[in-house]
Parts: sequence; structure tokens; C-alpha cells
Amino acid sequence: MNRLRASARGHHGAKLQPGVTMRGVGTYDLHRGAIIRRQARIHVGSGARLTVMRGAAVGTRNTINVEAGLTLHEGAELSWDVEIMDTDFHDIEYEDGRRHVRSAPISIGRHVLVGARAVILKGVTIGDGAIIAAGAVVTRDVEPGAIVAGNPARPVGRAASWR
Ligand SMILES: CC(C)(COP(=O)(O)OP(=O)(O)OC[C@H]1O[C@@H](n2cnc3c(N)ncnc32)[C@H](O)[C@@H]1OP(=O)(O)O)[C@@H](O)C(=O)NCCC(=O)NCCS
Repeated sequence: MNRLRASARGHHGAKLQPGVTMRGVGTYDLHRGAIIRRQARIHVGSGARLTVMRGAAVGTRNTINVEAGLTLHEGAELSWDVEIMDTDFHDIEYEDGRRHVRSAPISIGRHVLVGARAVILKGVTIGDGAIIAAGAVVTRDVEPGAIVAGNPARPVGRAASWR
């Protein structure tokens, strides 16, 4: 745990555990009480913003790439080995001439639980209190309080609470 290091980077009160890397020239908005766990690798590109609110946690060995924007709202919890990318890194041309959306911001709501090894892709909004199952691949928005699982993730239940 290294509050001093976080402080030196201008993130007063955020906790950065050992081995965290934060690369890229974008904006890192880590609020007081946010935590970035061991060996998380974060890249925020030019003009993009990562916001981690109070009580929200980026998990151990998470890989996070932000080219548009990512917000973790209060108390959102990412388990270990979660991968989040708000960009596909490539432009795709569809056969029918439609244009591919390469990057779009992601929002992870208050008190959301993201299970180990889940993958969250571009443009997704996850509603407050939702639970993402281990290994799920989230490609579409998730309703508040929904439990989703699988690849692509689909609703499998409802959560009243978790702790
Ligand atoms: C495959 C991919 C490029 C497609 O992007 P896209 O054309 O914008 O796709 P969409 O988001 O419109 O999704 C189209 C459908 O495919 C599904 N889908 C998209 N990506 C999926 C994935 N990784 N796994 C399973 N299903 C997926 C979506 O759920 C959607 O189906 P639905 O309408 O029934 O829900 C993108 O979703 C993806 O996986 N990006 C990650 C790329 C990557 O790994 N880059 C890193 C290094 S190169």
C-alpha cells in the first residue's frame, strides 16, 4: 500500500499497491479512498479519462486500457485478472459499408461486483449493484441489479445485495 506514491502523483488519499503501472498521457482521476491493487496495469491515452471514485477498487493484475473514458463509481469492485478495454484498437470495415465504432466510454455503476477474469468491452454501462460473473464477456449494457454471465454475457439472475 503506498499512499505516499499516490500522493506524489497527485492522487491524494488514493491507495496504490506495489507493482501498479499507470502509463499514457491521459487523465487519472483517482479519488480519496480509491484503491488500485497489486500489479494492475493501466494505460490512459491522450484526451481520455479514468475516474475511480471513493471506495472503488481496481483489482490485482487487472489490465485496463482507456482511449475514451472509464468511470468506476463508488464502491465498484473489480476482482483479479479483470480486463477492461474501451477500444478495439483497430478499425473494422463491415461488408455492408457500416462504420465500426472503435472506442466508446465505459461506466461501471455504484457497488458493482465484477468477477475474476471477466472482460468488459467498449461502450458498456453497468448499472448500480449489478454482478458480473467470473469469466463473463460483457459486450452490452447491464441493468442495475442484474447478474450476468457467459460469453457474450446475458442476464442469469437478480441481486438484492452483496458484501
Ligand atoms: C469483435 C469486436 C471487434 C466486434 O466489435 P463490433 O463489431 O463493434 O461488435 P459489437 O459490439 O457491435 O457486437 C456485435 C455482436 O457481437 C457480440 N460480441 C462482440 N464482441 C464479442 C466478444 N468478444 N465475445 C462474444 N460476443 C461478442 C455482441 O454481443 C453483439 O451481439 P448481440 O447484438 O447479440 O449482443 C469487439 O467486440 C471485440 O471483441 N473487441 C476486442 C478487440 C481486442 O481484443 N482488441 C485488443 C487487441 S487487438
